[in-house]
Amino acid sequence: MSILVTGGAGFIGSNFVLDWLAQSDEPVINLDKLTYAGNRENLQSLNGDPRHVFVQGDIGDSALVADLLAKHQPRAIVNFAAESHVDRSIHGPEDFIQTNIVGTFRLLEAVRAYWGGLQSDARQSFRFLHVSTDEVYGSLGKDDPAFTEAHRYEPNSPYSASKAASDHLVRAYHHTYGLPVLTTNCSNNYGPYHFPEKLIPLMIVNALAGKPLPVYGDGQQIRDWLYVKDHCSAIRRVLDAGHIGEVYNIGGWNEKPNLEIVHTVCALLDELRPRADGKPYKEQITYVADRPGHDRRYAIDARKLESELGWKPAETFETGISKTVQWYLDNQAWVSNVQSGTYREWLEKNYTGRNA
Ligand code: NAD
Ligand code: TYD
Repeated sequence: MSILVTGGAGFIGSNFVLDWLAQSDEPVINLDKLTYAGNRENLQSLNGDPRHVFVQGDIGDSALVADLLAKHQPRAIVNFAAESHVDRSIHGPEDFIQTNIVGTFRLLEAVRAYWGGLQSDARQSFRFLHVSTDEVYGSLGKDDPAFTEAHRYEPNSPYSASKAASDHLVRAYHHTYGLPVLTTNCSNNYGPYHFPEKLIPLMIVNALAGKPLPVYGDGQQIRDWLYVKDHCSAIRRVLDAGHIGEVYNIGGWNEKPNLEIVHTVCALLDELRPRADGKPYKEQITYVADRPGHDRRYAIDARKLESELGWKPAETFETGISKTVQWYLDNQAWVSNVQSGTYREWLEKNYTGRNA
């Protein structure tokens, strides 16, 4: 038995693979294109481990996926592969359409053919778990109730629209062809191996480098934060016990405005790695022009997952963010290795001349 994980060299995917193999000897076939966001260094501790088979390739490469399925006969697929950064989707949506929509479609087609050819037992126990986001539900007002699984889809960025399209395809493959799918929609993750283009790792890395901490707009946009390892445990739980065709929201009940997040990161760094001049890191905060179409608030109602499948996060925001800041302090080599030329080009494109 084995599982096929796509996008397993990215932030959440690599945490998932590491956690999976820390708890089980069931092999993982890891298919990842290694875009700018994919990093084999995240999986370095698995070098030489026969339980981890890494394949560099695209979920949209139908022949490659068909070959992998035929060769390894996985009992499940967990689909993390995606373009995942909203700001990049604003600058260039094409890759998001190609991977998140066309790629997911091709993956589903290859999986449908493979699943259709399985023996009855294997066919029944097979699962396709699609990893999605709360951003497909759109933006909430200050006093609106949190997103349930029944909330209508109202995606507002090219990223969330492409993820919404992929969710719809997954749903359609269940209703039309009977493919045994599960979909999870999770809130914002943070933790180890998070690429420093996203809010929390960008703030840690910039703070330590003495650079400005760019807060978009008024910094009062609210996100609901979940420690990445809790997302991974929720996915494992849904894979084990989720009901076919169902959607599960995953969240940590941790709504926070962005400015509060940045202040928390600064305060932790003040304590753990004080600035040489003794001043607080929050002096580096700079307000920059807002993101176009910026969603004001996300909040996840995770009661279905908690009550039906008995899942609970292990970390509070306070414990998770301390671990995260400490991880970045302990892994400065990883941080400097991801700051390639293309990373610097991205910072240039997104932040230069972006005055409030
Ligand atoms: P990431 O950008 O860090 O990693 C994505 C990975 O997918 C990379 O390793 C990349 O090389 C790979 N990839 C991209 N295109 C591919 C393709 N065509 N074929 C194969 N591999 C490809 O993303 P992440 O933050 O780890 O997110 C993983 C999944 O979780 C995504 O589907 C995302 O929408 C979803 N999600 C993310 C968050 C979050 O806060 N990061 C929250 C909820 C859901
Ligand atoms: P991000 O980490 O990009 O995740 P998402 O847009 O998918 O929620 O951003 C989290 C929040 O932080 C979002 O409201 C945008 C904001 N933000 C900043 O204020 N400054 C930044 O430099 C970045 C990258 C994000």
